[in-house]
Amino acid sequence: MGKYVIAGNWKMNKTPAEATELIEAIKPLVKDATCDVVVGVPFVDLCAALEAVKGSNIGVAAQNCHWEKSGAYTGEISAEMLKAMGVGYVILGHSERRTYFGDTDVTVQKRMRAALDAGLTVILCVGEYLEQREQGVTGEVCAMQTKIALGGVSKEELARVIIAYEPVWAIGTGRTATAEQANEVCALIRETVAGLYDGDAAAAVTIQYGGSMNAANAAELLAQSDVDGGLIGGASLKPQDFATIVAAAK
Ligand code: 13P
Repeated sequence: MGKYVIAGNWKMNKTPAEATELIEAIKPLVKDATCDVVVGVPFVDLCAALEAVKGSNIGVAAQNCHWEKSGAYTGEISAEMLKAMGVGYVILGHSERRTYFGDTDVTVQKRMRAALDAGLTVILCVGEYLEQREQGVTGEVCAMQTKIALGGVSKEELARVIIAYEPVWAIGTGRTATAEQANEVCALIRETVAGLYDGDAAAAVTIQYGGSMNAANAAELLAQSDVDGGLIGGASLKPQDFATIVAAAK
């Protein structure tokens, strides 16, 4: 299965000075990690974060990027700009962006193209709303989001794509998917990838679970056969909790 990756999504939290402080606290706690460790920080914290992670095993992610290289897009940041700074990863298609900021499967696909062209590694978020789960269409929703986002992505480029299954009803709610539910959908996403590419590509892709993953439930979720890591919101702001999750990813 894919290489384990534990990524924090700080969302709209922390000033640059606070970002430095938090990374300094995390660094010694995760230095012996056997998985990849990433922190996804607000745009204004990227400089401070890149400086703070120097010489460590922590990668830095932005939380979005625009699909054009440059132009009249007030308030936007391009993938090229992120790459030029030294950023390695970008989170795309997070449900908060889809819900509050109008991101769609099509714009996620365009952002994916730009991010891969710029040389970034993408953490692609997919996941169903509660109503969709209750209607029994979780599989269809996650497969569709995955297929559209990966439209035009070559098998070679797929090596720079991490997929995060984040059921919207589990994000920030304290209501985690059961390990079984998480594994079932991660397996289905892997099957979708197999259908688009082949079995090797599906076996190699990292599929994370995200949604109220914390220090207490991480070990069980990460022990599932198709869960290769986590995208962590709230608990990634607590150094000890984040380190416990990293340690559970073996
Ligand atoms: P929480 O861990 O706070 O539920 O957030 C999950 C998430 O949205 C990560 O991207």
